[in-house]
Amino acid sequence: MPNMHRISLLALVPSATLAHAAVLRNRLDDTNVGLTPSMGWSSWNVAQCDAASEEYAMTTANKLSELGLKDLGYEYVNIDDCWTTKQRDGNGNLVPDPNKWPRGIRPVVDDIHAMGLKFGLYGCAGTLTCASYPGSEDHEYQDAQLLADWDVDFWKHDNCFTECPVTPPPQTCWGYPVNTEPWYAKMADAIQSVKAQKEILFNLCQWGRNEVWTWGDKYGHSWRIENDNWGDWASVVRIGSKAGEIAQYSGPGGFNDLDMLFIGNNKLTHNQERLHFGLWAIAKSPLIIGADLTTIPTSSLDILRNKDLVAINQDPLGAAATPFRPSNSPEPASGEIYPYWAGPLSNGAVVAFSGANGAGDFSVNFSEVPGLEGGEHCWKEAYSGQEGRGDSLSFSVEQDDIAVFTVTDCA
Ligand SMILES: *[C@@H]1O[C@H](CO)[C@@H](O)[C@H](O)[C@H]1NC(C)=O
Repeated sequence: MPNMHRISLLALVPSATLAHAAVLRNRLDDTNVGLTPSMGWSSWNVAQCDAASEEYAMTTANKLSELGLKDLGYEYVNIDDCWTTKQRDGNGNLVPDPNKWPRGIRPVVDDIHAMGLKFGLYGCAGTLTCASYPGSEDHEYQDAQLLADWDVDFWKHDNCFTECPVTPPPQTCWGYPVNTEPWYAKMADAIQSVKAQKEILFNLCQWGRNEVWTWGDKYGHSWRIENDNWGDWASVVRIGSKAGEIAQYSGPGGFNDLDMLFIGNNKLTHNQERLHFGLWAIAKSPLIIGADLTTIPTSSLDILRNKDLVAINQDPLGAAATPFRPSNSPEPASGEIYPYWAGPLSNGAVVAFSGANGAGDFSVNFSEVPGLEGGEHCWKEAYSGQEGRGDSLSFSVEQDDIAVFTVTDCA
């Protein structure tokens, strides 16, 4: 029964957003995975290769529960690059590094499932992963079968050491006109081929090449739209501004992936962490924590635990916010995070004011917000908890901070 979930979700979509639904053409008919952006944790931003171990996985699983993150929807414990040995075994299978996985993978997955959480692994479309462990090229079906046998819930497919006009292929093939679609199509087919045994969320880590947002939904449930988030403010601006230009491609079953979070890594200021999370949430990006949960500062944890932002991110409509231009506001500039953002929610709309270009007193009349009718509405700001009602909204935002409002009909 293809696309059953889409038909039922479309019934909820206000007519103004039907044009948005029209670009969501090719969604997979998976009914249990990827209908909202994935939420969880990944090892990479924590300690790169060193964090690809059972110890980190189990410690994190316990912390997700203990810190209340699991109850908010953070469910995936994802292990990134470097979890295998440097060679496949005699049958060509990937081998978990025995120093990092003394029990192997399956018993860890079982323990994590018993805690009500999910488990993810990482691989690569080329001959090697980005850190030079075995890649999945020409082993796609075998690797998908191994994931199903291990009951793995999530697969991130990276883009290193793939075909390239340069021989031997370099780690990355940036700057060459290469069509990356075939290798994502092949891994997607492999993952679909084990679906009767195991539904696996497929994350295309394709770095936004070949306008992946226009075709990624044929193959997976999310696709990276840009080069990596390096954890600096310039990365947040580069990726966040890009997301605003391609918001229409996100929807239930397939989402723009802005990359893993750097919140609690001592890389950004408090305001920048708030904007980073707020923007990723309203852009409907997967929310994948990249911090060590045993040492994360409470101020960062409280950003990740913001219930209103999580609710906006997980809204069943799945529509991403995009910049809009009220009267007398500046021309949008490519590569900058525009001050005004809005997007539809199943119970109203989200409006956001960004201070990335400077602090300010921002105002908007609801009649200017796309998708909202003018007149009185009720609003709540996510970080301050401040509430109000009226036909317009005014709010002060500090440099690099963000204010995010849920706007609904008043009861
Ligand atoms: C908002 O716009 C409406 C319709 O244009 C107008 O009647 C109303 O006065 C405006 N509100 C404010 C506070 O400017």
